[in-house]
Amino acid sequence: MSTFWSLWIIVLTVISFVGITWILFANRKSTGSGPDKTTGHIYDGIEEYDNPLPAWWFHMFVITIVFSVGYLIFYPGMGNFKGVLNWTQVNQWQAEVDRAETKYGEIFAQYRAMPIEELSKNSKALKMGQRMFSNNCAQCHAGDARGGNGFPDLTDGEWLYGHSPEQIKESIMAGRSGAMPGWLAALKEEGVSEVSQYVKNLSVGGEVNEAAKAKFQMFCSACHGADGTGNIAFGAPDLTNDIWLYGGSLGQISHSIRNGRNGRMPVHKELLSEDKIHLLTAYVYSLSHNP
Ligand code: HEC
Ligand code: HEC
Repeated sequence: MSTFWSLWIIVLTVISFVGITWILFANRKSTGSGPDKTTGHIYDGIEEYDNPLPAWWFHMFVITIVFSVGYLIFYPGMGNFKGVLNWTQVNQWQAEVDRAETKYGEIFAQYRAMPIEELSKNSKALKMGQRMFSNNCAQCHAGDARGGNGFPDLTDGEWLYGHSPEQIKESIMAGRSGAMPGWLAALKEEGVSEVSQYVKNLSVGGEVNEAAKAKFQMFCSACHGADGTGNIAFGAPDLTNDIWLYGGSLGQISHSIRNGRNGRMPVHKELLSEDKIHLLTAYVYSLSHNP
């Protein structure tokens, strides 16, 4: 803050203090001149008393003023003056973080030493994992981890990138990017609608269009597999079941094929410590592995 604004605040604060104190003391004594100490105002026969503030009320005001002066001496408030305690929000936050680190550090270290499979059966660890999930992951994967359009359900049996402890941890640590190109240019309108119907039929059954099948083999099988069951190396989903990342209606499937899809799971290794990610991995692992 520049010296001018600092002084500006100090002067305004002091003027307010003096003003408030003056008003308080100026009103201590009744100046009522009427026979019953009234102000002399009469309206519709109602008169206004001119009583001083009750003593307890007056003293409360005095205490608040003394408190505020003390506060402004010890804590920041007077422009650039830092207060004699040198208190800052950052210091306080850091102190709280340090306290929490020592308190929870041990628990985390203990959990860190346990393998994911074992940790995923530890109800205390899962509770901590769930809380961390609510804070860091629920905005995308939903509170119950069932995901939504474009955000995978982490509780079901289908995994874009695999569901071993290592694969889940890798998804969280390093993030993931799904790269499904758009196919309108290669397939043209007619091809898109043919192949869309073919993909739809992969999950619901129906007559196989040989021309569409040939196109699928040519353009799609490299990632989704010849039979359409997907490949975790590319994060290419299984197209043969009824689990859909972007919706399984004919319209949604053809939107995916025509325009492509690029889901992005953000990198978390800079945001969360490895201890925390270990615990989160156990939580996510538990969702689909524990009955
Ligand atoms: C900004 C949104 C966002 C946040 C926050 C987010 N994710 Fe994701 N996550 C995604 C998306 C989108 C994908 C799918 C990526 C793709 O389509 O290739 C994904 C994929 C995943 C996968 C892989 C799923 C699979 O099928 O293989 C896991 C595991 C995962 N997230 C766990 C987490 C955890 C744990 C957190 C919290 C630490 C988290 N995510 C936070 C958006 C998010
Ligand atoms: C380069 C690899 C690659 C190729 C080639 C590819 N896909 Fe994909 N496809 C993906 C990936 C990765 C995703 C998931 C995108 C995401 O996570 O956001 C996907 C998603 C989809 C989806 C959405 C699935 C869902 O669950 O909502 C459909 C439908 C689809 N692809 C069909 C096709 C068809 C049809 C072709 C051929 C014309 C094709 N893909 C070619 C990689 C590929």
